Amino acid sequence: MSDLAAQPETLERLLRFWFPPAEQLSISAQAVNHYYGEGDARKQVLFDNRLDVGAGEIVIMTGPSGSGKTTLLTLLGTLRRVQEGSLKVLGTELNGLEQHQIIALRKRIGFIFQAHNLFESLTATQNVRMATELLGIPPVDAEPRIEAILRRLGLGQRLHYKPKSLSGGQKQRVAIARGIVHQPQLILADEPTAALDAESGREVVTIFKELAKRDGCTIIIVTHDNRILDVADRIVNMVDGKIKSNVLVQKTALLCQILQQYPLFRELSPAVLANVADKMNLQRYSPGSEIVRQGEPGTDFFVIAQGEVEVLASGKLVNRLETGSYFGEVSLLTEQPRNATVQAVGEVACFSLNKEDFQEVVATSGSFEEQLRQALFERQ
Ligand SMILES: Nc1ncnc2c1ncn2[C@@H]1O[C@H](COP(=O)(O)OP(=O)(O)OP(=O)(O)O)[C@@H](O)[C@H]1O
Ligand SMILES: [Mg+2]
Repeated sequence: MSDLAAQPETLERLLRFWFPPAEQLSISAQAVNHYYGEGDARKQVLFDNRLDVGAGEIVIMTGPSGSGKTTLLTLLGTLRRVQEGSLKVLGTELNGLEQHQIIALRKRIGFIFQAHNLFESLTATQNVRMATELLGIPPVDAEPRIEAILRRLGLGQRLHYKPKSLSGGQKQRVAIARGIVHQPQLILADEPTAALDAESGREVVTIFKELAKRDGCTIIIVTHDNRILDVADRIVNMVDGKIKSNVLVQKTALLCQILQQYPLFRELSPAVLANVADKMNLQRYSPGSEIVRQGEPGTDFFVIAQGEVEVLASGKLVNRLETGSYFGEVSLLTEQPRNATVQAVGEVACFSLNKEDFQEVVATSGSFEEQLRQALFERQ
């Protein structure tokens, strides 16, 4: 427990990404289809898209040109109407939304689009100010923010320049400032770093990370820029109008950090640990529920990520296990039915490894097997 307390944020982050509670989902898309054109020219461009994104996640969306990334982004941003399916953004269902609700919701969203759409007759500062004025942010709050964000993006010397006197990268940075100056809860960015050099691209990524971490802002970035992939909590790949893969990137890294704190895993080489982490699933159990039942065949090995369990043999309490302890290995190693029932005391989260993956790990890691057999011996 004390080990874990040293890094509570890691586990909390992992649990949040793994099981975002419905009320903390910034985006929840189900069966989203979209069509362009009318009549004979009507063409489907999005097919049955599903996506859940928790508050504070940074999602990178990739995919070939024409695969539907911008279309999905504009639907998320209420810039197009949802035609089919359910799309919830910041707790609001977009399908069938009224105009006044759309206006209210847009104030909570920041847009950074491929085409910068800056006003040529306005300076950098005035372009950003347009956004704060449109959103009704009082000048006393807006002015310091406008200047700070432009400076932060390296435009301190260009505050009063008009777009025609700015480079492509500088214009893009003004567009970024404009998109985030009102501190939105959701940022939708279409190729935000494409026109930027490595250093400015990095600065943008650092700002995104801060917004996600500090303010819980959710950020969806459409990009082909693999220099910024490391910022992603989740990478979503679109092909032919459909989300083909959806991967929590840092899952393995976060899980390794957590597992390393537990004695059983401390001895494992980084490669074996990453292999174990990669195959583990996180499960939640409500108070009183049975995680394994005596007499049933063993199908999984469990490590308690959070909470406490009771071990009952023939109805009698024989042990209590808490965070970092593991169970379920006996029947997997001996091929015997479960010799006890394990029950969640309060809310419990466990990492589980299925039998095949468990056996593979045991076979490849001598130290893991040795520790397990030692524990098995001591428990008998
Ligand atoms: N306004 C429109 N009217 C008709 N078809 C459109 C419209 N906008 C996009 N499309 C078509 O919808 C499909 C998806 O386009 P979309 O712009 O969403 O792709 P994308 O993944 O963003 O591509 P890119 O990487 O090139 O920006 C493409 O076949 C495109 O030609
Ligand atoms: Mg696009």
